[in-house]
Amino acid sequence: MWQILLYVAWLSCVYCYQTWLPVENSEVRKDGIKGTYRVDVDIPANDWINVTKFYDVLIFNTGHWWDRYKFPKDTPLVFYKGGKPIEPPLDMHNGLKVVLKSIASYIEREVPRKTLKLWRTQSPRHFYGGEWDHNGSCVSDRRLEEHELNSWFDPQFGGVNKEARTVNLAIQEALAGTEIQLLNLTYMSEFRADAHPAIWLGKKDAVAVYGQDCMHWCLPGVPDTWVDILAAQIMHHFKQEKG
Ligand SMILES: *[C@@H]1O[C@H](CO)[C@@H](O)[C@H](O)[C@H]1NC(C)=O
Ligand SMILES: *[C@@H]1O[C@H](CO)[C@@H](O)[C@H](O)[C@H]1NC(C)=O
Ligand SMILES: *[C@@H]1O[C@H](CO)[C@@H](O)[C@H](O)[C@H]1NC(C)=O
Repeated sequence: MWQILLYVAWLSCVYCYQTWLPVENSEVRKDGIKGTYRVDVDIPANDWINVTKFYDVLIFNTGHWWDRYKFPKDTPLVFYKGGKPIEPPLDMHNGLKVVLKSIASYIEREVPRKTLKLWRTQSPRHFYGGEWDHNGSCVSDRRLEEHELNSWFDPQFGGVNKEARTVNLAIQEALAGTEIQLLNLTYMSEFRADAHPAIWLGKKDAVAVYGQDCMHWCLPGVPDTWVDILAAQIMHHFKQEKG
């Protein structure tokens, strides 16, 4: 049997102690900053250290963890290298780019060549008319048309759903020249504005409290297709390897 590990890079901070993952640092500072979250761009997360040689397939992704809602101005991310804050300080996106490059080079260095390494691109969101906390909605049974996609997702239009393609660009840059293959599921998912839980959240008042959910997916649904594609890609790889 193949050993497969789905690794969600940068999970929440709840489980982490150091490293690529943000860690809370609660010194109070003068400049209106209540606390910072430290990210050591050059130290792998603990969970990584012993897995690099064991698995036949490693799958990475970037999740939706780094955003301005989790790390607002008064509790920012601060990026460290060699144990010292990077100067001048990096903003979240530039910090992410440095961390992605650091992860990619760690993988190239530490993971055996025969391991299949995939990086899943971002899962797009479909908030229409505003962010999740500004009445953004996705009650729709209509798929987007191809000619609509850029206006929804292209960062140059500055819409609320621009994150996926923005992060994908950083991923693409970080993986250039490595053996890590992209598992590009973003484009096919961009069409599916109709496939999120929206107001059908199962809990009373959930929409009033959290807004509509235009980020996660209904199941059965889009992620099942991702799994089919992933399975095909894994089979293809190992068939080729056998010759
Ligand atoms: C990694 O493996 C070493 C040796 O087996 C062990 O001492 C160490 O605690 C492990 N580290 C983690 C984070 O599991
Ligand atoms: C969301 O819509 C409600 C009802 O129309 C309105 O009262 C509220 O101010 C809106 N909230 C935001 C953040 O725009
Ligand atoms: C993913 O695929 C789409 C459609 O082919 C393409 O436009 C996009 O550039 C790809 N993204 C990455 C990061 O390669």
